[in-house]
Amino acid sequence: MKRKLSKIFAGAAALATAATLTACGGGGAGASGDASPGGEPATSSDITVGVAMPTQTSERWIADGNSVQSGLEAAGFNVNLQFANDDIPTQQQQIDQMITQGADVLIVASIDGTALATQLQAAAEAGIPVIAYDRLIRDTANVDFYVTFDNYQVGVDQATSLLIGLGVLDADGNETDSTGPYTVELFAGSLDDNNAHFFWNGAMDTLQPFIDAGTLVVGSGQTSIEQAATLRWSQETAQRRMEDLITAHYSGGSGQLDGILSPFDGISRGIITALQNAGYGPTIGQGMPVVTGQDAEIASVALIDQDVQYSTIFKDTRLLAEQAVIAAQAFATGNTPEANNTTDYDNGVKVVPSFLLQVETVIRDNIQTVLIDSGFFTAEQVERGQL
Ligand code: GAL
Repeated sequence: MKRKLSKIFAGAAALATAATLTACGGGGAGASGDASPGGEPATSSDITVGVAMPTQTSERWIADGNSVQSGLEAAGFNVNLQFANDDIPTQQQQIDQMITQGADVLIVASIDGTALATQLQAAAEAGIPVIAYDRLIRDTANVDFYVTFDNYQVGVDQATSLLIGLGVLDADGNETDSTGPYTVELFAGSLDDNNAHFFWNGAMDTLQPFIDAGTLVVGSGQTSIEQAATLRWSQETAQRRMEDLITAHYSGGSGQLDGILSPFDGISRGIITALQNAGYGPTIGQGMPVVTGQDAEIASVALIDQDVQYSTIFKDTRLLAEQAVIAAQAFATGNTPEANNTTDYDNGVKVVPSFLLQVETVIRDNIQTVLIDSGFFTAEQVERGQL
């Protein structure tokens, strides 16, 4: 702990200024506590932040990596950004290297949230504060802060949009007279990602009363998270499972299938491909089941615009990156970032102080207001389904 802290405290005065200059507005996780400057004042460029991201196969993580890097650089930090190709040993090695190369703060979006205890022990011994990014790192005391979205609410919102798309709820979320029954299938994320469990719990708490009432029927009977899970959130794995479900329970494509709970846009696109290949669609009005999603990836936003995918959950990665930068600045100035949740994110060893951001459901009708007017995408990008 000692080695880094002395350097961090030396840099505190300089960074306090940088933090004031760059802190982005609006109720963020600012710093609390007293900075303890000492020794020679250093410049912020003396401080290196290691940023470990899981993969470049998904557009959202590239956007996260870019936003975190540019935010940190604007605040005057050196940045060591690495992507791990969804490979656990690669991510472990990258973090080991960040530590040996002298990182002062780490920001980590884990692949397997349970696989980094050894690396984080080394970080703690070197006095390096660790910020878990989007995904909680589990089974270690050596994670100091967590920036994320309200993950339980993501699941609630996914399930709510499924119910609205089916007509069980109206646009305001009130129950209609429609009692179905509607036939649905359920998909979950990667079980080694803590978030997958939050999404699932939020969704199932919302759907279960309708399953119990018989309004929703899970055609395959696969209602446990283990049965619904998708390792590494893989689009191909999801497509295969959907193909198998269609073969086994929907007469190869002629069976009635009204909706699919999907926790992530990549999974949604795998599901939609399987449905299209089996003859469902082309649009929701013409036989495509209601499919949910998450992340507002451009290819899925285009599908929503074309009435093929029903919804996604928009997580503004610009805001998440901003919170990570603010937290890094707090640690780098010898402070503690401000949490807005100190109860929900128990990582198996301790409750990790967290900063949660809110999410927004996107359907065809609000692509313009939520995604285009906010500058997240241009109308042309939505039109062509590419960045
Ligand atoms: C989760 C994340 C989701 C989605 C998913 C697949 O951890 O919270 O937003 O990106 O991973 O990458």
